[in-house]
Amino acid sequence: MHLDYSKKFQQSINKLKSEGRYRFFNEIERKYGSHPIASWNHNSSQSDIIVWCSNDYLGMSQNNLVVTTMKNAVEQMGTGSGGTRNISGNSTAIIELENELAKLHKKEKALVFSSGYVANESTISTILDILEDAIVFSDEKNHASIISGIKKSQANKEIFRHNDLNHLEELINLYPENKPKLIIFESIYSMDGDYGDIAGIVKIAKKHNAITFLDEVHAVGMYGETGAGVSEKLKLNDQIDIIQGTLGKAFGIMGGYITSTKLICDTIRSYASGFIFTTAMPPALAKSATTSIKYLKKSNIERTLQQKNTACLREHLNKSSIPFLDNGSHIVPVMVNDPIRCNEISHILLNEFGHYIQPINYPTVPEGTERLRITPGPLHTEKMISELAVALKYAFEKTKKVDYKKVL
Ligand SMILES: Cc1ncc(COP(=O)(O)O)c(C=O)c1O
Repeated sequence: MHLDYSKKFQQSINKLKSEGRYRFFNEIERKYGSHPIASWNHNSSQSDIIVWCSNDYLGMSQNNLVVTTMKNAVEQMGTGSGGTRNISGNSTAIIELENELAKLHKKEKALVFSSGYVANESTISTILDILEDAIVFSDEKNHASIISGIKKSQANKEIFRHNDLNHLEELINLYPENKPKLIIFESIYSMDGDYGDIAGIVKIAKKHNAITFLDEVHAVGMYGETGAGVSEKLKLNDQIDIIQGTLGKAFGIMGGYITSTKLICDTIRSYASGFIFTTAMPPALAKSATTSIKYLKKSNIERTLQQKNTACLREHLNKSSIPFLDNGSHIVPVMVNDPIRCNEISHILLNEFGHYIQPINYPTVPEGTERLRITPGPLHTEKMISELAVALKYAFEKTKKVDYKKVL
């Protein structure tokens, strides 16, 4: 029998294209010392653009101290780590990084993973496997890596409506007191930029003797006196059982981690296949991540400037009547609510004005809530911000009258 594999692949790609969900990756070349200006490589030419959608929230990937640390570390120790943590990859640099992370979050221990995604997926699935008949309660807007960890474990799950603590408690009450329970939520939700209710969830968790797992990926480096996230800002870090974070966003490197008790970290270290069976983080990355964390513990300049620029952008958007979600965080989602128009606005901004904001479409966000997710950094200027607002207004106007559903 002849099996036409290509047809299946082509059909799946065509489906994405017809729904306006086919992802196009722009080719961006970052330039040390120029952030947020970068080169856009397209049609065999290069042009300077302003990046507005980077998760290098504070520009730390180009911080002199961090860059020098990485360069020196490569010269001293070479590039790769040489193996898994178990077999020759357990460097002094990675141990120092874990100690620094534990100190940052005021926890007994930390464990580093290859990414925040892997940290979530591996830790969550392992905990649920270890607890055997646990129920996991997960906010409906939790990240794909959390969902994947839950699915992998095959544990019983309850999805509570986003930030709806009454719903969470209603679901918890369906189960006997002696059932192990894990509540998973985020401190800042990536796409809406709104805050999770840490105090409220901690209260419910204590009442029902549940373990709490908090994803602080978008908040570490950004919030709190020393950059330990929203839980630090609210002085609640000691109330959360497991805090998870990334080194790839505000800290400007790559990698993910959890911080918790010695016992929980030792359990994950010993059972999580996503921790055990993979090459350890290279020492140069670990060294530079430690430098970045230490730097942001003491320096508030980047956070202050970032917050000032976010407020400035909101002001300009308001003046130009550009619709956005006003969430109080550093993430400014400009709502377009149509996938094709969203792509079109992004295209106009880039091609006609040199402003780069990647469109965010389904399945990253629900259908009909397509948006441009803007993350102003400390190095954007007020001039750049006001020019962006003008360009956005123009692009919104230009795309207003086209009925994209009919174009399809
Ligand atoms: C909420 C959340 N958790 C985890 C991750 C994964 O982190 P990383 O990019 O370090 O893999 C992301 C990525 O954007 C995220 O938004």
